[in-house]
Amino acid sequence: MSDTVKVFFEGNTYEFPLIVGTEGEKAIDIQKMRQKTGLITYDPGFGNTGSCKSTITFMDGEKGILRYRGIPIEQLAEKASFKETAYLLINGMLPNQAEINRFSVLLNDHSLVHEDMQHFYQNFPRGSHPMGILSTMVNALRSFYPELKEVDEEINITVTRLLAKVRTMAAMSYKISRGHKVVYPRADLAYTANFLNMMFDSPVKPYIIDDDVVRALEVFWILHADHEQNCSTSAVRVVGSGRVNLYAAISAGISALWGPLHGGANQAVIEMLSQVHEKGIPLHRLIERAKDKKDPFRLMGFGHRVYKTYDPRAKIIKEWCHTLINKLNISDPLLDIAMELEEIAVRDDYFIENHLYPNVDFYSGIVLKAIGFPTSMFTVLFAIGRLPGWIAQWKESTDDPDWRISRPRQIYVGKPRSDYIPLEERD
Ligand code: CMC
Repeated sequence: MSDTVKVFFEGNTYEFPLIVGTEGEKAIDIQKMRQKTGLITYDPGFGNTGSCKSTITFMDGEKGILRYRGIPIEQLAEKASFKETAYLLINGMLPNQAEINRFSVLLNDHSLVHEDMQHFYQNFPRGSHPMGILSTMVNALRSFYPELKEVDEEINITVTRLLAKVRTMAAMSYKISRGHKVVYPRADLAYTANFLNMMFDSPVKPYIIDDDVVRALEVFWILHADHEQNCSTSAVRVVGSGRVNLYAAISAGISALWGPLHGGANQAVIEMLSQVHEKGIPLHRLIERAKDKKDPFRLMGFGHRVYKTYDPRAKIIKEWCHTLINKLNISDPLLDIAMELEEIAVRDDYFIENHLYPNVDFYSGIVLKAIGFPTSMFTVLFAIGRLPGWIAQWKESTDDPDWRISRPRQIYVGKPRSDYIPLEERD
């Protein structure tokens, strides 16, 4: 195989390096393209653009493969803890016993949030979306925890603070939004149980920790922990490329995740299924609307930029829907609606031709709802899960020898040069 790619343009031939990834995926290195040919590339939504080389996550959208640092998502979802997964993503390898113990101690030590931050929370208007609150509060962390001089220490402590405090802040925002007393983290509880306790414990009804519920949330977080160069991760990298502090970059990631086409889809799916249930909307009507090009409606929880087959995360979370619903002995009509909708959609020509299958968000909301989370918290839970991935990607970008500030070009299609017209001479 040649190690260059030839481009023919206006009678000239130009050669560009070919890059081949570990799994055989190929790319043309066009860093010198404009310099050599005067051309730039046009790729809205960056569907064909590799923005970096990365050692963190591998996805094969045609085969439905997802691996973190080489380890299949199925194995992590079955055997790993979320804490181990976070360590793996950020440090590049699974921790040994001493390392995981130290990591746990650090997360506990940093889990409290500056008391003064509570005043911020109190002043958000009632009904503010928790994603807006979370991104604001994460950005505000820089003011409460100013920068340390020693670079490595600053990075390590900021990473630990984020992993420990974002979870506490998320639970705090929920409690405060309901006008309830904040529940503080407990050193005797592990990461996920601690979060559930902060969310749901109350003086009138102590929260009873259930191992299956803890595991379901752990799996949800593991499945969301990284997904290579998605919208929010790209936001973290792009904003980080200006060399802002890590809090600001993560805050940008949280904002990007909020949208219904990205992390906000888990909330949008439950809202869509609830409407079907409450208003008795026939499912074929939903499918017809999704197919109608004049209608902006899209079937939430379906489709993906990379996966052209079933999202491997969706398979795992769908099983957890059944496990949890059986274990908790509840019935959720939304699960039945979701399964029926999936069955109709995957047999429909439009969905087959466009390779539209359920993505992770299609079933994840049912798991979160069964645990007791309100829909407005769903995307916050996605953000807690994605945090290790954002951190790992940010760290990788700061060490990247090919790093440059993100600054795409454009094709200008506006007016040609025209002169300024004084106000009194304008029509
Ligand atoms: N319902 C109906 N049609 C769809 C859908 C959908 N959910 N998704 C894609 N299509 C159509 C789309 O209109 C397009 O048709 P055409 O070529 O005729 O214009 C075709 O399928 C290809 O889709 P696309 O918009 O080019 O795909 P994309 O890669 O730009 O967008 C997506 C990916 C996830 C934004 C999109 O599939 C979507 O809007 N899905 C619904 C929202 C959703 O579930 N998002 C969660 C994604 S997974 C969690 C995460 O990682 O963020």
